[in-house]
Amino acid sequence: MNNEVVRLENLRKVYGSGETEVVALADANMILHEGEVSAVLGPSGSGKTTMLMCLGCIVMPTAGKIFIRGEEIYETGGWKKRDLRRLRREKMGFIFQAHNLVPFLSVLENVVIASELVGTPRKEAETKAMELLDYLEVAHRAGNFPATISGGEAQRVAIARALVHGPSLILADEPTAALDTDRGKKVVALLKNLAKKRGVGVIVVTHDVRMVEGFDRVYHMKDGSILDE
Ligand SMILES: Nc1ncnc2c1ncn2[C@@H]1O[C@H](COP(=O)(O)OP(=O)(O)O)[C@@H](O)[C@H]1O
Ligand SMILES: [Mg+2]
Repeated sequence: MNNEVVRLENLRKVYGSGETEVVALADANMILHEGEVSAVLGPSGSGKTTMLMCLGCIVMPTAGKIFIRGEEIYETGGWKKRDLRRLRREKMGFIFQAHNLVPFLSVLENVVIASELVGTPRKEAETKAMELLDYLEVAHRAGNFPATISGGEAQRVAIARALVHGPSLILADEPTAALDTDRGKKVVALLKNLAKKRGVGVIVVTHDVRMVEGFDRVYHMKDGSILDE
């Protein structure tokens, strides 16, 4: 119980109502432990993104419970924790399909800013950012603006940005979609390494079967339900 990073209990999300109603999450249950990298594999439309958004306190579930590090943050009827923004900023790292880099900041600044937001001094933030950019093979782009780098490079910068402040939970939505197989595997290896070294919990959702080797657990998602491993 103590080393649980995430617990979802009977999570349900229904978009719309009446004829346009879509049940995106039917009754999803999942547990993620410290140091574990889990993959949630499922076809497009199975509810993967919705689940991550609920976990990230971005989308409000319709019913169910969410616990993060043993603390209940959602129970049918509402968020239990007041400061969701702070929870997101300090404890979570998001890697989304659309990389959302800030266009008027350099690659380095895009990464540094995530670290400064949680109070890391500039110099230290820069050192950490360069280390990650180097590991992800985009250090040579540090001074570039996002519009002048490739999609795959931008995705790796976004990954560095999600990791730089040392989150305890990393939520990754199809993080390898824009990468070739080798780079994709490298990203998975990096996430795994972080999980083991720092006790971070990592959830990667993907429809890409090629990427699932190397995960501690693979959950399958279908029509809004998480089936067993
Ligand atoms: N904001 C929304 N409003 C209405 N329906 C949505 C919304 N977001 C997702 N859906 C629907 O919910 C289902 C699950 O979508 P999603 O969570 O994006 O799945 P996945 O990430 O596995 O492709 C789909 O049928 C999708 O069309
Ligand atoms: Mg999705």
